[in-house]
Amino acid sequence: MLLTGRIPRHVGIIMDGNGRWAELRGLPRIEGHRRGTERVSEILEVAAELGVKALTLYAFSLENWQRPTSEVKTLMRLLELHLKKELPELMAKDIVFKTIGDIWRLPGEIQALIREIEEKTASNKGMALVAALSYSGRNEILRAVKKVLYSGVRPEELTEESFGSYLDTAGLPAPDLIIRTSGEMRISNFLLWQGAYSELYFTDTLWPDFTKEEFFLAIQDYQQRERRFGVISTRRDAP
Ligand code: IPE
Ligand code: IPE
Ligand code: MG
Repeated sequence: MLLTGRIPRHVGIIMDGNGRWAELRGLPRIEGHRRGTERVSEILEVAAELGVKALTLYAFSLENWQRPTSEVKTLMRLLELHLKKELPELMAKDIVFKTIGDIWRLPGEIQALIREIEEKTASNKGMALVAALSYSGRNEILRAVKKVLYSGVRPEELTEESFGSYLDTAGLPAPDLIIRTSGEMRISNFLLWQGAYSELYFTDTLWPDFTKEEFFLAIQDYQQRERRFGVISTRRDAP
């Protein structure tokens, strides 16, 4: 499928529905998470090919720590395996790897792995892959407010733009498109500040079934949208 027209600079994806995918097949939930990582590799590749500049994947929320210990443990193990496996791919595709979220809560080995991958890919020139790990938008905003307070910046100097530089996403454009799989119509604490004007795309498809064709559908849908940012439509004639 060929996509011509406007390609979103930054796409965020709330990768939801792994557990239901597995349960529907009588499999353990972790099998859904495992299948989900296969989609991550596929979507990453196709997004880079399309010319997306940043892809943020919501992989584990701060709230997800409250899941049963066994699920959290297997998710962490899967994350570690996936990160190790992806590194050569990231290098081959010239992708820069970044993370957002309360990373210090992750197991030490994963934090070390993240640092290593961030360092190794830092001078790459291609798409930014941003993994939202142990992430919550409110927590990110609160941490940013604390950084502002500690910085001693004068209140009258603080602008929306400068505040953005205290967020974990500093340097990244705001997401143009946020996709959520699995039929849930909510944001679940994802990119609350940055998503103020994002186009939202919801699909019933569960994340382990979200193939590149599904991604193309989301991009095509985005290409039909008119982004107005509060001003008057340029498409319709004035009355
Ligand atoms: C998304 O799938 C992955 C994570 C939140 C880690 P879920 O595990 O939320 O799957 P469902 O929503 O229970 O189907
Ligand atoms: C959102 O999915 C977080 C991730 C996809 C990582 P959840 O399954 O945790 O969200 P809720 O609980 O349905 O809102
Ligand atoms: Mg879910």
